[in-house]
Amino acid sequence: MIIVNNIDEMHDLSNKWRQDGKSIGLVPTMGYLHEGHLSLINAARGENDIVVTSIFVNPSQFGPNEDFERYPRDMEADSAACELAGVDVIFAPDAQEMYPEGYTTYVEPGAIGQRLCGVTRPIHFRGVCTVVLKLFNIIQPLNAYFGQKDAQQYLILKRMVADLNLDINLHRMPIIREADGLAKSSRNVYLTPEQREQATMLFAAVKKAEQLYRAGERDSATILAAMSDELAKASLAKVDYLQIVETDNLLPVQHIDREVLVAMAVYFGSTRLIDNTILG
Ligand code: PAJ
Repeated sequence: MIIVNNIDEMHDLSNKWRQDGKSIGLVPTMGYLHEGHLSLINAARGENDIVVTSIFVNPSQFGPNEDFERYPRDMEADSAACELAGVDVIFAPDAQEMYPEGYTTYVEPGAIGQRLCGVTRPIHFRGVCTVVLKLFNIIQPLNAYFGQKDAQQYLILKRMVADLNLDINLHRMPIIREADGLAKSSRNVYLTPEQREQATMLFAAVKKAEQLYRAGERDSATILAAMSDELAKASLAKVDYLQIVETDNLLPVQHIDREVLVAMAVYFGSTRLIDNTILG
């Protein structure tokens, strides 16, 4: 396994692989890798000749008062985990390499980037689209792997790939959870023991929605009320949003007669956790 920090060097490698007819699988990450990331790497390993994992804490997707500075980083542990998982190349540029002086071009996802997480994080998805398009151009993957954990991110990137006619297959992998149901996240380390204990209520709310849907409930308001009751059991939680939306335009759905995304974001102090499920 090699670590590449330089865009030209990465470009040369991917050009050569493509000339040799090798398929490239890309797993974009911000590092501090956990089993959620590793599930994407394993999927990529199974389906491609070459696996590239990018590790880049992307400044353009963090708002001015967000956790860019304190976002956890551990390159040594990440390299060891990637090596073990059979990654061929870690692409780990620095911010200067990705956004040199004079940089001005951004990918604007439009209205779907302003809904759900976009309400409290208005520039987030513009930053995500921009960096992911840059990674696609630098690494030229045939396949790219993303987690259902960030459901809105996946849907927006899928839209970007269609709208900009990118010749890349996106794969959406299931949410990997801790034993008690909390979705694995690099940000879980921010939680105090008490917050960590209460954070299981997000999954309790997800399960409640799935259970009601299985029992035949199709009224969004009823399902959302039952989910709110679950979240209310976490006294330290402050709900940012809890919604049932269409999977393409992310607009609220009253009656569930098609595929919907049930999504939530919850604050514990300044730590913001997300979870979701698809119904239908
Ligand atoms: P990051 O939060 O590091 O996540 C990298 C990838 O891992 C994303 O596709 C995310 O959905 C997936 N992932 C995270 N936790 C997961 C879990 N518990 N189960 C399954 N998959 C999980 O998402 C980003 O980075 C960035 O926005 C990025 C796409 C790299 C652009 O900067």
